[in-house]
Amino acid sequence: MSSKQRELLALCARRRTAVTGRRRRFHGAPGRFESVATYIGERLPGAVRYVADVAGGQGMLSRLLRKRYNLESEVVDPRGYTLKGVPGRAVCFDAADAEYYDLIVGLHPDAATRAIATAALVRPAILIPCCNFWSEEKLGQRELLDAIEAMYVAHGVSCERVRFDFPGPKNVGLVSTPPR
Ligand SMILES: C[S@@+](CC[C@H](N)C(=O)[O-])C[C@H]1O[C@@H](n2cnc3c(N)ncnc32)[C@H](O)[C@@H]1O
Repeated sequence: MSSKQRELLALCARRRTAVTGRRRRFHGAPGRFESVATYIGERLPGAVRYVADVAGGQGMLSRLLRKRYNLESEVVDPRGYTLKGVPGRAVCFDAADAEYYDLIVGLHPDAATRAIATAALVRPAILIPCCNFWSEEKLGQRELLDAIEAMYVAHGVSCERVRFDFPGPKNVGLVSTPPR
């Protein structure tokens, strides 16, 4: 990880994670977990059982997927502080582990962005990038999506841009299927 990426990661962590006493608050766009969980549960029924909620933080997305849709979703995030009842692996996501899952999800995954895109070469994935952890050059949101999409196209990954139902601008994701 470059020093710029480390700085960005620290900045994102400071901005989005607030711990007040023992109670944790969620920062960021409201409704994002709900919206992504609904998409997975209602658009991909039957196709998915094991979900990697990569960079899932406290695991609210996994909690919804497990409770509402009965999916086996686990958080893969080095922070390792998931909500009660939400399983998690406190490690950085390694694309080599993608085969264990039916679906890889990265909702604002910061430094895990590239590993998720690499996993998308072999597994269905939903990647909703936030900050640019993709390249050294400065990229706006649309350019970031373009860059990831170009990598997908170069590797034969089919992908659709989906605007999720939560406040933007970081609400656009790439829903992808690997080549056969
Ligand atoms: C912006 S937070 C997003 C958390 C959650 N998805 C949300 O929307 O609230 C980014 C998360 O990425 C995690 N992360 C950073 N690098 C990672 C990596 N290599 N593998 C897995 N998670 C990573 C951080 O620990 C942090 O929890």
